[in-house]
Amino acid sequence: MSMVEEIKKLKEEKNAVILAHYYVPAEVQQIADYVGDSFYLSGVAVDLEAQTIVFCGVEFMGESAKVLSPNKTVLMPAADADCPMAHMADPETIKKVREEYEDLAVVCYINSTAELKKYSDVCVTSSNAVQIVRALPQKNIFFIPDRNLAHYVAQQVPEKNFVYNEGFCPTHERMDEEEVLEQKKLHPEAEVLAHPECNKTVLQHADYIGSTKGIIQYATASKKQEFIICTEEGVGYELQCQNPEKRFYYPKSLPVCPNMKKVTLEKVLHVLKTGENEVQVDVDLREKTKLPLERMLQLAK
Ligand code: 13P
Ligand code: SF4
Repeated sequence: MSMVEEIKKLKEEKNAVILAHYYVPAEVQQIADYVGDSFYLSGVAVDLEAQTIVFCGVEFMGESAKVLSPNKTVLMPAADADCPMAHMADPETIKKVREEYEDLAVVCYINSTAELKKYSDVCVTSSNAVQIVRALPQKNIFFIPDRNLAHYVAQQVPEKNFVYNEGFCPTHERMDEEEVLEQKKLHPEAEVLAHPECNKTVLQHADYIGSTKGIIQYATASKKQEFIICTEEGVGYELQCQNPEKRFYYPKSLPVCPNMKKVTLEKVLHVLKTGENEVQVDVDLREKTKLPLERMLQLAK
């Protein structure tokens, strides 16, 4: 029996579903039941009947799924797949900013630890951050941890006063403006589609800025035939599946998230067989983290 067949068999036997983010390797996306961006994946588990969720992504994703579906078993194929940006803020600074500003909302990008979410008023993802910040009653916004997404949202919602935090995604931050311009020169007809985790030097050249799902939807709906993609290369699998006739180019130093790439078919099979790497979030933390996550699901409706 092939590894893929074995995964399918075990999945049925154990009443499990496989969720995958667009950045994990293509062969893992192929065997997943649900593939999507962070927002889609955070909500999808809630309505599933399956008792076990195998989450092909990084730690904060599995943690959010567990918080929103505490009675389910959430297994992480790669237990060491963590997002460095998720740790780039701290509770002391949040406390200080809260003391400094009266009319303040702490807005937490979902790419953060449960510990950081606990001190926040609402979570957002790249697909709903603008909509949610705009809907908040507070004038002052402390946006953690991503400075690049914060600056992008601030531009879209000028009526709010932003306090910035110095976190960033190393994979997107590394993207180089010169390499984007090089691709534009090589493909003058191509549209530039960028993720808001990119630095503003890259974003200023974008024809469209959005989440991974937004980028896929935009490219699929566009009449253009060529695109320069400024996000992690894993989206290329779905882009090409949905648009076999279109061409997608990337900056020369291919953007690869080393943590998302830790998820392999072997590890998916292993957790299905053994039940290892189960996500645990203690009850107190779960209760406190649930509030900002549920508020996001509500406000994004
Ligand atoms: P989205 O899929 O929500 O755009 O998130 C991108 C990302 O960096 C996930 O780690
Ligand atoms: Fe974190 Fe960036 Fe990797 Fe997403 S792509 S998991 S934000 S390091």
